[in-house]
Amino acid sequence: MARQRVAVLLGGRSGEHEVSVVSARSVMAALDPERWEVVPIGIAKSGAWLSPGETRAELEAGARAFEGSGTPVLRANEALEALDSCAVAFPLIHGTNGEDGTLQGFLEIAGKPYAGAGVAASAIGMDKALMKALFREAGIPVARYSVIRSWEYTLAQNDSMGLIDTAIGYPCFVKPANGGSSVGITKARSREDLPGAFAAAFAYDDKAVVEQAVIGREVECSVLGNEHPEASVAGEIVPDREFYDYDSKYASGSATELRIPAPITESAAKDIRDLALRMYRVMGCEGYARVDFFLTSGDRVVANEVNTIPGFTSISMYPKLWEASGLSYTPLLTRILELAFERHERRARR
Ligand SMILES: Nc1ncnc2c1ncn2[C@@H]1O[C@H](COP(=O)(O)OP(=O)(O)O)[C@@H](O)[C@H]1O
Ligand SMILES: [Mg+2]
Repeated sequence: MARQRVAVLLGGRSGEHEVSVVSARSVMAALDPERWEVVPIGIAKSGAWLSPGETRAELEAGARAFEGSGTPVLRANEALEALDSCAVAFPLIHGTNGEDGTLQGFLEIAGKPYAGAGVAASAIGMDKALMKALFREAGIPVARYSVIRSWEYTLAQNDSMGLIDTAIGYPCFVKPANGGSSVGITKARSREDLPGAFAAAFAYDDKAVVEQAVIGREVECSVLGNEHPEASVAGEIVPDREFYDYDSKYASGSATELRIPAPITESAAKDIRDLALRMYRVMGCEGYARVDFFLTSGDRVVANEVNTIPGFTSISMYPKLWEASGLSYTPLLTRILELAFERHERRARR
């Protein structure tokens, strides 16, 4: 098969910029060189786009982030022409303007095939309030939760806290609706913790989701496919602290463990795979996504969230679960890009 150009989009405006750069470095190193020619396009923290030359220079200099460089996108001719010259795009940007449907919308407008979830599934996956509402509507078990806006909280703090006292209880998790990598998330043990927890969440979004704490293990499953998605074996995360916060995810000293496959019963593993596929379909995901759960001591499975652009280094959960299911990193990347073409062609036939 002829070699095709793939635009790897990396960096971006969110707090997960550095995580994206780490994932993209691994992906670029692992993409099959016989099949793909990599064209890296960095997006700075400001949102400005770097040309492939500038991106490569920064990466070769060991940059962990694209700081001040780049050109505002509508004037970033070199980057846009490079994107135009590619057969397919691989967005590896987490959070704002990368994972939330906006970049996907831009690629739709450009008519460019791209890896992963489309506009609506991406937008839903980035909004924990919308995602939970959709799951609840579909009869998928989720933790008890409420949604509180920053202005409601400012106007009536006591009402907001009273709602949590009665409808949710403690401990609870207070999260920005649009977030990732546990940024802005606090475990509140009592009413006294709420003001600090809301301040932390509202620093990232005007909308907070407050959730009853589920007592259980954290289990994840990788899903791959368009119309006929498949689920991988399940894996367990064992955080080295109170919960799976930013440092336990990324700090170099973190002792968080990934257990693959998860040491759970065959029937719990089957429930997880079945529910992962249901959640993927309900959201309308395509391409790939990682689906996260809690598993209680009674083997009850509770949905946590779907990540449409999960961490993607060679030691990240998403590719590791496929490797344990018989699909290694390099062919997995090729499959994800083939799925991008398949969706594009299917839709072009309409
Ligand atoms: N309802 C909950 N019960 C127990 N732990 C939770 C709950 N919600 C979040 N957590 C903990 O916080 C972490 C991050 O929350 P999550 O909703 O997955 O946000 P993110 O999108 O930032 O990963 C989870 O992996 C888990 O450790
Ligand atoms: Mg999570």
